Amino acid sequence: MYTHLQRDQTRPPVTLATLARMKADGEKIASLTCYDASFAVLMDTAEVDVVLVGDSLGMVIQGHDTTVPVTMDQMVYHCAAVARGLDRPFLIADLPFMSYASQTLALEHSVRLMQEGGAEMVKLESGGKQTEIVEFLASHDIAVCAHLGLKPQSVHKTGGFRVQGRERETAARLLEEARRLESAGADIVLLECIPAALGKTITAELHVPVIGIGAGPDTDGQILVTYDILDITTGRKPRFVRNFMEGAHNNLEALQNYVRAVKRREYPAPEHCF
Ligand code: KIV
Repeated sequence: MYTHLQRDQTRPPVTLATLARMKADGEKIASLTCYDASFAVLMDTAEVDVVLVGDSLGMVIQGHDTTVPVTMDQMVYHCAAVARGLDRPFLIADLPFMSYASQTLALEHSVRLMQEGGAEMVKLESGGKQTEIVEFLASHDIAVCAHLGLKPQSVHKTGGFRVQGRERETAARLLEEARRLESAGADIVLLECIPAALGKTITAELHVPVIGIGAGPDTDGQILVTYDILDITTGRKPRFVRNFMEGAHNNLEALQNYVRAVKRREYPAPEHCF
């Protein structure tokens, strides 16, 4: 009945309780994006703690300029593939553009990601009006990751992929939004592209784990787009990206080096921060 009992007890699955303990103990959470079963198996082997089926798949898999064209069916397809390859890591999936424009849509689509995709948590780009959506999902016992800072789904409105929270007022607003999202029931807050000092303040203020991408070394965990760290992405990469293929013989070794660098606090270094 309880399939977890049949798993390798020396590698218990990562849960929200595991992540809360890691925050309390100061053990860094190593996370990566993933879009297929083969990479999922490698990530499990590399001891990645949290795997995100990000809507970044619209850019790195589908070749779009933004994440906006990604559909719900595509997210479910990729999430189910990733879930089949995972045993230990905690699995989060993105709610794509406009799939959470109302409470009803958000609930219906979260259920799809969990039931058809095998996700354990859904992530939505948050703040402002979405705080009520987070509260609504949490009231239905759905685990929620609230994404703050640079929000790629809003790129046509905000005018580009830019660091957020550099000015005092925007930093204060982001801190306030993070507090509100935690009160609304967010179980994880993800911070993208903000100054390291703000990442530190928000992480210290919140009780839930905070995972950062380009948010400095002091968040409880780090996440990166896997194709960036394996040097598959072409063109100019964001400042916070480090090429983990350097010195590695294969993809698995590169992923293991990433996990080790996060755990030992060697990544991110000052040159990766804003
Ligand atoms: O979609 C994605 O890959 C993300 C990460 C950038 C955190 O949201």
